Amino acid sequence: MNTLDDKTVVKEYFNATGFDRWRRIYGDGDVNKVQLDIRTGHQQTVDTVLSWLKADGDLAGLSICDAGCGVGSLSIPLAEAGAKVFASDISEKMVGEAKERAKECLDNTNNLTFGVQDLEALNGSYHTVICLDVLIHYPQDKAAQMIAHLASLAESRLILSFAPKTLALSLLKKIGEFFPGPSKTTRAYQHREADIVKILESNGFSIQRNAMTSTRFYFSRLLEATRSSG
Ligand SMILES: C[S@@+](CC[C@H](N)C(=O)[O-])C[C@H]1O[C@@H](n2cnc3c(N)ncnc32)[C@H](O)[C@@H]1O
Repeated sequence: MNTLDDKTVVKEYFNATGFDRWRRIYGDGDVNKVQLDIRTGHQQTVDTVLSWLKADGDLAGLSICDAGCGVGSLSIPLAEAGAKVFASDISEKMVGEAKERAKECLDNTNNLTFGVQDLEALNGSYHTVICLDVLIHYPQDKAAQMIAHLASLAESRLILSFAPKTLALSLLKKIGEFFPGPSKTTRAYQHREADIVKILESNGFSIQRNAMTSTRFYFSRLLEATRSSG
């Protein structure tokens, strides 16, 4: 499968069966045990990012681009905390759901704007660019291009998460337990942390904070990188 196919497949998936599946996982209604485990893991990743940004104490008014925002799990609480958020996703269905949720959750949606866009077509400049659990859909060469593009939009900071390539996870994937379920129609790519760090460094960024979320079925390595001085 070439990378153009990956993008087309991912977009179609998140506008159809993937939309139904992930909208439920990223919601609060009844789901099966595996989906509940993934929901819990994903929430931990979101909470870690929120805790990092809140700890810095300058969230109000900070310009943030949430690339591949899904149903707004991160964008909505960031906007609630006062950040100026641009949330976009390649799937119009995901963006539609994010808009609905924002209307329900926020008293005022003035500081949250949405777009339906491939993250590689984004332009502009933001203090912080965030891309959570998106790189899992793309192979290494495509992920490198995407990170380079995201880096070009980030004035100061880039926060990324990816499924780390470790021996244990490779084995899990082989025996079919990784991202299981009948609606799993996209490939899940794992990435070596050393490769992602190298890509960030070659784009002028260096790692500041990191975290790992692992539950039974959800594995996400989170890296915060800032523009290196000089
Ligand atoms: C697993 S979900 C994660 C959503 C969100 N970042 C979160 O953590 O809640 C992956 C999302 O990435 C989006 N996506 C995949 N490829 C993309 C691309 N090339 N540009 C923008 N969004 C993309 C999908 O449509 C989907 O909504």
